Amino acid sequence: MKILLLNGSPKKEKSDTMHLTRAFLTGMQKAAPQEISAIHVIDRNIGYCRGCFSCMRGGGKCVQEDDMREILENMLASDLILFSFPLYCYGMPAPLKALVDRMLPLSSMAMQRSGDRYTHVRQADTSRLRFLMICGCGFPNSRQNFEPAVAQFKLCFPGRNTVLTVPESPMFSAPEATPVTAPRLKLIESAGEEYARTGAIGEALFEEISSPMIPEETYAAIVNRA
Ligand SMILES: Cc1cc2nc3c(=O)[nH]c(=O)nc-3n(C[C@H](O)[C@H](O)[C@H](O)COP(=O)(O)O)c2cc1C
Repeated sequence: MKILLLNGSPKKEKSDTMHLTRAFLTGMQKAAPQEISAIHVIDRNIGYCRGCFSCMRGGGKCVQEDDMREILENMLASDLILFSFPLYCYGMPAPLKALVDRMLPLSSMAMQRSGDRYTHVRQADTSRLRFLMICGCGFPNSRQNFEPAVAQFKLCFPGRNTVLTVPESPMFSAPEATPVTAPRLKLIESAGEEYARTGAIGEALFEEISSPMIPEETYAAIVNRA
């Protein structure tokens, strides 16, 4: 499978979330060979969407000539777009959001009813694309935290989307936390393997992965001591 990894953490390879993403991809590679190309979004020249709708009205080209042209081409040549990012203010980091806004050329201005809402009719063939979100965060709680980011992702990429959220993510970059992070990374690896084999992650496995690794109060106490 051709995978385009979009790393939305400004910390690039030092990203806490990238520990999760690397484990997931290791699992996917256990199931089958994968062709992975990665982009650190912060390094790319991606202007903000100007809201002119030229791309949606005029055949799919943005008026801005920046790195987004090549990224859109890469997207359309992929099977899976993997968004790896830390939760920022209950959403995605701004550089990644700028990239998602600039995906507008894939859609036309025309609207269609899709179930109980409206979506734009695609003007690029995205039918074979799958979308995966792997998101880490700093708080120990998954509830009252990830929901806005998950809802946005599912609405932006309806249908073939999969989401993996993991709290207490800074622990993955702390070597002293290895006794609790190593088993969690193994679970994430098995989620990757399952995803590559079946196209989904089982609910029980998801619940286990998105639960705190250590009790919330203990985690908060450690953070507050540091
Ligand atoms: C600007 C900013 C906003 C943040 N907002 C949240 C948040 O809403 N919820 C949360 O649990 N953590 C939040 N965090 C913490 C990060 O998600 C956390 O530190 C994460 O492990 C960073 O991952 P990374 O190393 O992959 O960038 C925020 C961090 C920053 C810098």
